[in-house]
Amino acid sequence: MVAQIMSGLAVAQDVKERVKTAVKDLKASGIIPCLATVLVGNDPASATYVNNKQKTAKELGIATRDHRVAGTFKQQELLELVQLLNRDSEVHGILVQLPLPGHIDEFAIINTINPLKDVDGLTPYSAGMLQNGMALLKPCTPLGIMELFDYYKIALEGKHVVIINRSNLVGKPLLLMLLERNATVTVCHSRTKGIAAYLRQADIVISAVGNRDRFTLTADMIKEGAIIIDVATSRINGKLVGDVDFEAVKLKASWITPVPGGVGPMTIAMLMKNTVSAASVSSRRTSA
Ligand SMILES: NC(=O)c1ccc[n+]([C@@H]2O[C@H](COP(=O)([O-])OP(=O)(O)OC[C@H]3O[C@@H](n4cnc5c(N)ncnc54)[C@H](OP(=O)(O)O)[C@@H]3O)[C@@H](O)[C@H]2O)c1
Repeated sequence: MVAQIMSGLAVAQDVKERVKTAVKDLKASGIIPCLATVLVGNDPASATYVNNKQKTAKELGIATRDHRVAGTFKQQELLELVQLLNRDSEVHGILVQLPLPGHIDEFAIINTINPLKDVDGLTPYSAGMLQNGMALLKPCTPLGIMELFDYYKIALEGKHVVIINRSNLVGKPLLLMLLERNATVTVCHSRTKGIAAYLRQADIVISAVGNRDRFTLTADMIKEGAIIIDVATSRINGKLVGDVDFEAVKLKASWITPVPGGVGPMTIAMLMKNTVSAASVSSRRTSA
C-alpha cells in the first residue's frame, strides 16, 4: 500500500477561495474584515509566521494592522496594546504571536483579548465554549486538521484517534473537536509509557512533538492502513521535517500529510476563516 497524500496546500487554497468570496460579500455590506497581529521581539521564526499571516490576509482582501514591538516591551504596555485593539471597532481579529518573551505572562495577555476577536481561539472563554460544543472561534491548527478530514471525506465516528501532544494549541482542542465528531481519542505525551502500543491500535495518528531526537514516528509503530497527520515542524540539517519517517510510513499508511505542505498551510487558512467569522459576527451585532 502507498498512502494517498492529504495536501494542505490544495485544501488551504480551497478554504482561501471561500474566504475571498466571504470578504467580498462583507465588503459589499460595508464591513472590511481586519486582522491585527502583534509581534513582540525579533525571533526570526515568529517574524516569518507573522509575515505569512499578513501576506495571506492582504491577498484575500482582509485589511491588516501590523504591530511589532521590541522584546523589552513591558507586560503592562502589551496589555494596553491589546485593550486598544479590543476597543478599535475596525479591528475584528487580534492575533498575538506566541511564544512571548519570558518576562510576559502569556495567559494574562491571551485572557485580555476580547473573545469575539479571538481569531486564534486560545482565550479561556473560547476554550470553555469549545468544551461545551458552542465555540465560534476554534484554534486554527486543530480546525485545519478537521478541515483536512472533511475535504478528503475521512469519517471520524467510531475511529480510534491517538494524538501525541497535550498542548493548549494542539492536543487539548483536538481532543474536544474529535470527541464532538464521535471519535474515540487517546492523548499521549512525554510521560506516556509504552507509546507504541497505543499507536499500533490507532486508526488515525496525529503527531505533534516537534523534536526528532526525542520522538520519530516509524513504520513499525503504526497499523497497516492507518491515517497519519504530521503536525510537527522541526529542522534536520536545515531541512524542514515533521515527526514522521515519511518515506517508510507512507508505504504502510492509507493517507498521510507531508511536511511541508500539510498541516502548516491549513493553520494560516483557518486564521483567515476565523477573521471573516469574527467580522460577520461583529456586523450582525452592529445591525441588531
Ligand atoms: N504546522 C503548524 O501550523 C503548527 C501549528 C502548531 C504547532 N506546530 C508544531 O507542532 C509541534 C508541537 O507544538 P506545540 O506548540 O504543541 O508544542 P509543545 O507544547 O512543546 O508540545 C509538544 C508535545 O509533545 C510531547 N512530547 C515531547 N516529547 C515527547 C516524547 N518523547 N514522546 C511523546 N510525546 C512527547 C509533549 O509532552 P509534555 O506535554 O509531557 O511535555 C507535548 O505535549 C511543534 O513542532 C510545532 O512547531 C505546527
